[in-house]
Amino acid sequence: MSLSFSIVALFIVATVVWLVASRRQSLPCPVWLRWCVELDNPFARNNRAAVILDHLDLEPGMTVLDLGCGPGRLTVPAAQRVGPAGRVVSVDLQAGMLARAKEKARAADLSNIEFVQAGAGEGKLGRDRFDRALLVTVLGEIPDRPGALKEIFDALKPGGILSVTETLFDPHYQSRQTVARLAAEVGFRERGFFGNRLAFTVHLEKPVGG
Ligand SMILES: C[S@@+](CC[C@H](N)C(=O)[O-])C[C@H]1O[C@@H](n2cnc3c(N)ncnc32)[C@H](O)[C@@H]1O
Repeated sequence: MSLSFSIVALFIVATVVWLVASRRQSLPCPVWLRWCVELDNPFARNNRAAVILDHLDLEPGMTVLDLGCGPGRLTVPAAQRVGPAGRVVSVDLQAGMLARAKEKARAADLSNIEFVQAGAGEGKLGRDRFDRALLVTVLGEIPDRPGALKEIFDALKPGGILSVTETLFDPHYQSRQTVARLAAEVGFRERGFFGNRLAFTVHLEKPVGG
């Protein structure tokens, strides 16, 4: 067996073990890989921050949740779009990710961002307070996905939109069918779909009166 074959086989086994383990406990994208999260993958246009935010029609004054914000790839441009009258609440499990996001917010001279270190489903999001929510390549890293989606549902205002983005390049990729099933279970209604299997964004609405 050649050395290169052994390395590839080892990599595949390690990825599978990691994926299976992350179904049972929280194994988020490591902080040392945050540089990789910040790159705009040229093969996944639909995972670019500007593309995701363009679909979402953010307006000045809106309140936005960026759950699993990582190093702030979407947080900073979202805060610029909602302006000083709006607010972005950026939540992540890991202090190292939040530290990088804060650094970028300072460099962009933004004071309309609230950073919260917490896990999805821990009950820190409140109720009926967000116009929009972002969940970009995060869902597959959350062990209790139904619990996390229910928490986001409750935190959105009636008529509010959750934007979920998934890309095949992410080892925690969730298919469109999986996202649709989990979302429907907590009461979301699909309002839009952009992209393809390589990278897609789905818009999920909390119905008025839901
Ligand atoms: C692949 S990164 C994506 C970061 C960002 N959304 C982006 O697209 O640039 C996933 C992020 O989700 C965070 N995360 C994973 N599980 C989480 C959980 N249960 N609650 C909150 N954040 C979580 C990780 O710490 C990591 O920063």
